[in-house]
Amino acid sequence: MEVLKNKFITIKAHVEDAPQECMFELKTQIILGLLEPESNGVIVKCLYASIDPAQINRMKTQCSSQTSVAPASKITPGMMISGSGVGRVVASKHPDFQKNDIVYGSLEWAEYTIFKNGNMLWKLDTKEFPLSYHIGVFGTSGLTAYGGFFHICKPKKGEKVFVSAAAGSVGNLVGQYAKLFGCYVVGCAGSKQKVDLLKGKLGFDDAFNYKEDVDLKSTIQRYFPDGIDIYFDNVGGEMLEAAIANMNNFGRVAACGAMSDYTNSGKRATLNMMDVTYKRITIKGFLSLDFSSEYIKDFISTTTDYVRAGELCVLEDISHGIESIPYAFNGLFQGRNIGKQIVQISEE
Ligand SMILES: NC(=O)c1ccc[n+]([C@@H]2O[C@H](COP(=O)([O-])OP(=O)(O)OC[C@H]3O[C@@H](n4cnc5c(N)ncnc54)[C@H](OP(=O)(O)O)[C@@H]3O)[C@@H](O)[C@H]2O)c1
Repeated sequence: MEVLKNKFITIKAHVEDAPQECMFELKTQIILGLLEPESNGVIVKCLYASIDPAQINRMKTQCSSQTSVAPASKITPGMMISGSGVGRVVASKHPDFQKNDIVYGSLEWAEYTIFKNGNMLWKLDTKEFPLSYHIGVFGTSGLTAYGGFFHICKPKKGEKVFVSAAAGSVGNLVGQYAKLFGCYVVGCAGSKQKVDLLKGKLGFDDAFNYKEDVDLKSTIQRYFPDGIDIYFDNVGGEMLEAAIANMNNFGRVAACGAMSDYTNSGKRATLNMMDVTYKRITIKGFLSLDFSSEYIKDFISTTTDYVRAGELCVLEDISHGIESIPYAFNGLFQGRNIGKQIVQISEE
């Protein structure tokens, strides 16, 4: 019976605040590389792992998100950490998958993932685009940006859009979709390099470094003298408070995530509810899982066309080797990543 050594990343203890590399460990387990006949099982070798900030909420002792949907469930110390990934089938008893098929699914932060049943794996067309695109621009980040912007914000051409964490995986795509649609777009990010990228390569109308501005309310007012119609919120906290103060009547806020809150709940936003009421602002939370399969088809076909035509720029930040996961993950909370953070676990 073939035996495989499987390296994986886990947490040593629950992570309550900003993560540090020493909080993670690399472990090795021995797995049997053969599957039971008639089992429908599949073993997948991970090629690209998606590194997502919301994983931090799974690592906490307690967080309201943990009971929301299965992919947000709690991770206990020592346990494998699942996230979206692209891999190669190394063994299969499932009729739909054969050895060497390239698949997308919920893979562990590990060299190999064993699926007792391969029903939640999808075969990928590998001809046209790099495999890593399937966890970024064509994966959850892209769907979150597309669905959050078009479905939740319901934009009209010419409206003024503000995006936070705008050089990140979701944020950069929101800004690009909004520009392609015909909106006026300003992004904020945490460094000059990111601001230059937004204004240059990505074509945002303007951008600013929020770390250099103490008074966020008046900074946003400078960039939006006529107010904001749509705020795509990736960070929560003070930025959300400042955006609400600058929203126009009937403004829409897509509550996509709350980076500033994830590692410091003391930074949670205190909203001016008078503003929300009198300006009739809609604030709507959403998860990418909410979007229907019909909607996903529309997202994939539109995004594929944009990427193929070179109209949508794909930003990826790829580190190499399973050992680099803790560093890559911590980087999300320090603003090190530009675009989608990915770890290439194995060579294609
Ligand atoms: N609703 C959904 O279904 C869904 C799906 C995917 C992601 N999300 C959410 O979308 C947001 C962005 O996710 P992503 O995967 O695209 O990550 P990302 O933006 O690529 O990476 C996180 C970025 O957040 C910024 N950041 C870190 N700490 C911050 C803080 N304390 N205050 C303000 N900004 C901070 C950093 O950029 P700077 O240099 O600009 O600080 C960092 O690069 C997250 O809140 C995530 O949870 C939601």
